[in-house]
Amino acid sequence: MTRVAVIVGTRPEAIKMASVYKACAAADGIDPVLVSTGQHREMLAQVLDVFEMTADIDLNVMSGNQTLAGLTARLFDALDGMLEEVKPDVVLVQGDTTSVMCGAISAFYRDIPVGHVEAGLRTGNLRAPFPEEANRLIAGRVTTHHFAPTEGSRQNLLREHVEDSAIHVTGNTVIDSLMIEVERQRADDSLRAGIDVELQALLVDAGAPSGSRLEDTPYILVTGHRRENHGQGFADICSSLAWLASKYSDHRIIYPVHLNPNVREVVHEQLGDLHNILLLPPVHYRLFVKLMNGSRLVLTDSGGVQEEAPSLGKPVLVMRETTERPEGVDAGTVRLVGTDPEKIQSEVSRLLDDESAYEQMAMRKNPYGDGHAAARIVQVLAGKA
Ligand code: UD1
Ligand code: UDP
Repeated sequence: MTRVAVIVGTRPEAIKMASVYKACAAADGIDPVLVSTGQHREMLAQVLDVFEMTADIDLNVMSGNQTLAGLTARLFDALDGMLEEVKPDVVLVQGDTTSVMCGAISAFYRDIPVGHVEAGLRTGNLRAPFPEEANRLIAGRVTTHHFAPTEGSRQNLLREHVEDSAIHVTGNTVIDSLMIEVERQRADDSLRAGIDVELQALLVDAGAPSGSRLEDTPYILVTGHRRENHGQGFADICSSLAWLASKYSDHRIIYPVHLNPNVREVVHEQLGDLHNILLLPPVHYRLFVKLMNGSRLVLTDSGGVQEEAPSLGKPVLVMRETTERPEGVDAGTVRLVGTDPEKIQSEVSRLLDDESAYEQMAMRKNPYGDGHAAARIVQVLAGKA
């Protein structure tokens, strides 16, 4: 048996590793061990719950408003103890968080091969996204199997002199999860009804009139959390949202707010009282897919959301200066708008006021995968690719 430690630390890692973990568990000859670093607590638990997964080991490292160095120190210590105990043959990490960087280095220090899922994303700018660009570069340096989601990410790795034979273009596992969830919601009436009830309760808790439903009003879906946007960036994002809420008073802005206190506090302080901005707690994946599917457009600085929304045919405005996911921009469904209020306001207005501009971006495009990324990854791990 090949023992594979599947490491997850944050919400997006768990969403994107769910199909990989399950495919490992279903494969002959692979014994997966699901390790939660606990870099996120509540937001990771939400994902594990929805995907019906239980961590075999929980390192529980999160502390309130953690610093990068403090988090890194706790992760190295806990991960090394885990590796000593589990003795995996391979360690799998996903993406570019601090858990990923520490997981990859810890495995490397013990001479254990590393598989990097979502390898080769690059902006070329160490400050954006911060610290993720550095995390994925460091993880990539010690990786044995690079699971690149797209041809573009493969090319990035080749430019860094990674051996071609070590790179496997698999598609992004985010699309595996999304396709399964969209089909499940389409096919299951009672599941859809349950989701509607849950969402209705959340909307009312956030200030919507009682009895109001998601479908009653067109809405913009917002998420945001990037460290380089903390401070002035979020102040600007909030003032843009307030302006948009006032201009488009027949719309709602629905915003599930990330638990990072640097985000939560400013967003609630600046937007908490506006009647057509509904601030929700982070919602579980099933609800978020429904929210994306029903939205007019998505305004986000998230990596994963940039990949998901185009396959649902939703225009995405990305509140960042640069992206490591150029495929969505090239496909015409994603635009970078940064955090400058004038730019956010004018780009949203353009989409809401000009139907043909909207139609040009609202295309169902799927540059990030076909839903079978996990199967390709497992083939490599099983030595069959
Ligand atoms: C982290 C990742 C980022 C990823 C994002 C996904 C790093 C440095 N950052 O950012 O790459 O895109 O997750 O969401 O790896 N918190 C809670 N409960 C939770 C989660 C977070 O209370 O379930 C609060 C805590 O106070 C915590 C803070 O948020 O200290 C920051 O968490 P952290 O994981 O360091 O950074 P994120 O901004 O969440
Ligand atoms: N997501 C979720 N609930 C929310 C917001 C986002 O389940 O309230 C999902 C979303 O579908 C995507 C992932 O979380 O798959 C993105 O996570 P996040 O934006 O926190 O991190 P990033 O992708 O930027 O690393």
